[in-house]
Amino acid sequence: MINRLKNLSVEFKNILKESSCLADSLGFKVYLVGGVVRDLILEKKVFDLDIVVQGDAIVFAGKLSELLGEKFQRHHSFGTATVNFNAHKIDFATARTEIYSKQGVLPKVSPASITEDLFRRDFTINAMAISLNGDDYGKLIDLHDGFLDLKKKFIRVLHEKSFLDDPTRILRAIRFEQRFNFKFEDETYKLIKSALNSDALKFVSHHRLRDEIVLMLKESNPSKYIKRIHHLAGFCFINGQIKLEQKDLDVFFRIEHSLNHYHKRLKKHRILQAYLIYLAGILCKLPLDKVKKTTYDLGLKKGEAAIIYSIRKGLLSIKTLKNYKTPHIIYKTLKPYSLESILFFYAYYGKDLKRNIEFFLNELADIKLKIRGNDLKRLGFKPLKLYSEILKKLLYVKIDKRLKTKKEELSSAQRIFYGLSQQLKN
Ligand code: CTP
Repeated sequence: MINRLKNLSVEFKNILKESSCLADSLGFKVYLVGGVVRDLILEKKVFDLDIVVQGDAIVFAGKLSELLGEKFQRHHSFGTATVNFNAHKIDFATARTEIYSKQGVLPKVSPASITEDLFRRDFTINAMAISLNGDDYGKLIDLHDGFLDLKKKFIRVLHEKSFLDDPTRILRAIRFEQRFNFKFEDETYKLIKSALNSDALKFVSHHRLRDEIVLMLKESNPSKYIKRIHHLAGFCFINGQIKLEQKDLDVFFRIEHSLNHYHKRLKKHRILQAYLIYLAGILCKLPLDKVKKTTYDLGLKKGEAAIIYSIRKGLLSIKTLKNYKTPHIIYKTLKPYSLESILFFYAYYGKDLKRNIEFFLNELADIKLKIRGNDLKRLGFKPLKLYSEILKKLLYVKIDKRLKTKKEELSSAQRIFYGLSQQLKN
């Protein structure tokens, strides 16, 4: 197992060595745990570290951060701390047990041994630890056959109440199953089905559900995750009215395809919040007023909720773009929407809107006027209240006639001004 630690970056190895010396000097037991151990065994790249301390994790993280010359944040109520190290994060937690008093709510925790800490975890593949103490440095602690399950590609819970204690584990199970191409071990599959039959997910707060769903939608190729949830659980746990059909599942695959196309072939404007496009696909099954309520219940940020709402709202009206339109109409129709919304429409309507949306993204979206209100003032245009109208019309003329120079804009502005003045007189 020491060999596996050797696969870590030099920075991480140094931190673990420092942790090891510090743990020995403090008389604490310290372990690398959970997903990082799983990923090391699977030879995946490790970005963040999770460290469990049998002792006081906050004291440990404080002393380590001093040694590393890094800042650390403590979270007293959870007995945890985080050290941010370059672009990486190292989380420290005191070894603990968890007692679930009520289904779906967060458990009561108390300090415990590493054995108990590993037993409270979701799946065997996530319930392994690597000791960081001197003599044991690098030794794998695998009390639940996680290593074997990794080899067998199994997702297996540690006990039969696991999904009832924490129903978000149903979504986590799907996430790991799809991410690693693993299978549910038979008994685990039965427990998932039985938890779903008792509507376990409905006992979970919307905010925790949101966190899980967003994590899932941030995985690569989220469509297959959505399809799996659809077949196994459906999406009624978010809202009873969300019932996806086959044609909706196709949309998610088209979103994936459209995003690839955007990244490889279309003009890139900025990095997209791709997960929102998928989430919109799920929530768009709801009537408009329910979309607002559901995004609120899920605790999405205002900007996120606004994007999803505008997608749902524009879903039908955007179809008018289907027939060929003059460039400025395409601009006017699409410009108010976020890029996420536009990519959604692109995927949703496929070839019907393809040409116009690609035209907008590649050629129209960034067009701006070279002249401003001050230029109109210099020309002596009056009254001022006409300026915004002149500039708007001018932008559309620029788009349609492909005006290039400031001179062309100024002479067009003159014509528009003349037209508007005439209208005012009549
Ligand atoms: N864990 C758990 N039950 C949960 C959430 C987390 O038992 N509902 C435990 C698992 O042991 C998990 C560890 O906490 O490995 C860390 O959780 P998290 O960071 O969410 O997951 P990772 O396993 O690290 O997965 P990822 O690769 O997605 O970060």
